[in-house]
Amino acid sequence: MTPLPIRKATRVLVLTGAGVSAESGIATFRAGGGLWEKHRVEQVASMEGFVEDPQLVWRFYSERRKGVLAAEPNAGHYALAELEQRLGDRFLLTTQNVDGLHARAGSERMLELHGNVCMTRCLLCAREPFVDETLYLDSLPKCELCGEEGRDTILRPHIVWFGESLDGWVLSQIDDFISEAGSDLLFLAIGTAGAVYPAASLVDVARRVGGVSYLINLDEADNASQFEHVIRGKSGEVLPRLFGL
Ligand code: OAD
Repeated sequence: MTPLPIRKATRVLVLTGAGVSAESGIATFRAGGGLWEKHRVEQVASMEGFVEDPQLVWRFYSERRKGVLAAEPNAGHYALAELEQRLGDRFLLTTQNVDGLHARAGSERMLELHGNVCMTRCLLCAREPFVDETLYLDSLPKCELCGEEGRDTILRPHIVWFGESLDGWVLSQIDDFISEAGSDLLFLAIGTAGAVYPAASLVDVARRVGGVSYLINLDEADNASQFEHVIRGKSGEVLPRLFGL
């Protein structure tokens, strides 16, 4: 496999999806037997679903917490952390994954687009999202700060649900990285089906500034035709070779 064309000026922007964690034993979303085949999205991943049955939603995310805490990063996560070590500020990783495995593999210049399953936040008050590894299988967590003010607010998972916007600060960091890179941008989308926006349109933004784009995915992705280079395979096998590790 020809290693990536990384020159002195090259800036690498990476977008990862569920496929990167598949080799760690974490279920993807759209495959047969995937999470969205077993659950109705609107029931477990929307505010409407949460209002209707918060316990069902907390049970769903508690099960996912359990899975993530039992999982370990794989060769794909480690390869990305190593590439970052080599490139420093010329590297930015953005992930749709909520499993925290990139951070556990050592990635630091990393933005979580869809939140983190091991974090919780309040529905009402302005307290910062906090690390929370508790499983709420048969109970609902209440906000201690709201309790002090005489309200009784249920906490929610720190996940971007369908119908909700992505964090504006995160999006502006990605925009800034792309504009600064211009035609020196090398964009890699890895392990993502290209079905959820705005992440799936990052390739278009990258190409508009003159960047080079690669897709590394096991199966055909919805937006595959937008990429200049498509490599079919498992990220844990492809990335170490592609990065010349
Ligand atoms: P999907 O489950 O939609 O797609 C995962 C992709 O990874 C598929 O195209 C697989 O072919 C590929 N894949 C599987 N194993 C792989 C491996 N070992 N190496 C490389 N590729 C592999 O997951 P995402 O595209 O990440 O959002 O889904 C995007 C968003 O949709 C998720 O973040 C989630 C979901 O609804 C929220 O929950 C907000």
